[in-house]
This record gives sequence, structure tokens and C-alpha cells, in this order.
Amino acid sequence: MSNTRDKWEKIYANASDVVAQPCEVLRRYRHLLPEAGTAVDIACGLGGNALFLADQGIRTTAVDISNNAIDALKCRAEERGFTLDCIAAPVEDWLIESDDRCFDVIVVSRFLDRTLLPRLIDHLSPGGLVYYQTFTADKAQPSSGPSNPEYLLKPNELLRYFEHLVIRAFYDPGSIGRQHEGFRNESYLVAQKPVKK
Ligand SMILES: C[S@@+](CC[C@H](N)C(=O)[O-])C[C@H]1O[C@@H](n2cnc3c(N)ncnc32)[C@H](O)[C@@H]1O
Repeated sequence: MSNTRDKWEKIYANASDVVAQPCEVLRRYRHLLPEAGTAVDIACGLGGNALFLADQGIRTTAVDISNNAIDALKCRAEERGFTLDCIAAPVEDWLIESDDRCFDVIVVSRFLDRTLLPRLIDHLSPGGLVYYQTFTADKAQPSSGPSNPEYLLKPNELLRYFEHLVIRAFYDPGSIGRQHEGFRNESYLVAQKPVKK
């Protein structure tokens, strides 16, 4: 775990001026977000998703293993007058500590730990949405994203993890067609937890 933290601390050591952007799926499906409520940006990095969610009027928590990333995010949030709950911790530990908390929106972009996926669903409120976007093994640009298969989605893999939720949007372009056109190298999904009756 400390290896992972050290790696990301180095990557974010000089990132305080970087302006992080929200991921494609969140921008594209902004209109599915609730008008208010709670959200968490998992493995938030510099918090492009968290800042976007806060700007939509959603009370947002952001979690990342890197102190450098979280410190940079706190500065960005303060500059923009947003109240963000910023947490520097491994997400697996934070999920245990937050056992009784549920969120209306959970966003994960460019982070994949398959063992955590069922636990994320447990933290989703009934009717809540998960926005998930990350790299695929079948890429139009092979050098894009990580090369370790552990961090790469197989075709339709997101659909399988969220099969008990209602799929509101799904995209998995692979390497077919005009490879230099369109949003590529990542798959995404928006899924809604059913409301129990
Ligand atoms: C590729 S970056 C993606 C950051 C952000 N979600 C985005 O899309 O720009 C992966 C992030 O995962 C974080 N990370 C890696 N392992 C983690 C863990 N066990 N718990 C929390 N964050 C972790 C890293 O610090 C890094 O910010």
C-alpha cells in the first residue's frame, strides 16, 4: 500500500497548478444528476469530478490515497468557494470507516479495484447513481492508459458488475471503426440502484 501511495505522491508533487477536468461520463450525463443530495468521488486525484459535482449543488466528499492530491484539491475548492469533504486515505479503509454512509451519487474515474465494486454498491442510496469510467484492454490507441491488465476492463465488464442495477447509459467503443474519432480507450456506465418497494 505504501508503494502505491509513494507512486502517486510523486506524480502529484508538482500538481498544485493543474486544473483537473471532470470525466467524460459525468459531463455527458450531467442531466441525470439529482438537483441536490450527496456524492462521493472515489480515488479523486486532483478532484475534477468532485469540483464539478459541488458546482452542481451536490454535497460532495472526495477520497484519495495521495495527500498531495488532496491538499491541491482543498486549495482549488477554497478558491472556488466550495465546501468539499476532502479525505486522504486508501479508499478500502475509508469504506470500512464509512460503513453506515450512503450517497446519492458515486463517481469513479480511471481507477479500478474489482474487489471494491460490491462495496461501492452497498454505499449507494436507493435510487442513487453510479458513474463509472475507466480504461479498457481493447484500445484504439494502444499506448493510452495503463498496460497492466489488472487495471483494464474487458468488453462488457462494467455491465456485469452492475447487472443488478438499472443501466441508464453504457459505452464501450473498443477499437472498432474510425479509430481516431470519438471518445476512445475507456468504457463508461451510469447505473441506478433500484428503489426497494
Ligand atoms: C489515474 S488517477 C485518476 C484520478 C481521477 N479519478 C481522474 O480521473 O482524474 C488514479 C487515482 O487513484 C488514486 N488511488 C490509487 N490507489 C488508491 C487507493 N487504494 N485508495 C484511494 N485512492 C487511490 C491515486 O492516488 C490517483 O489519484
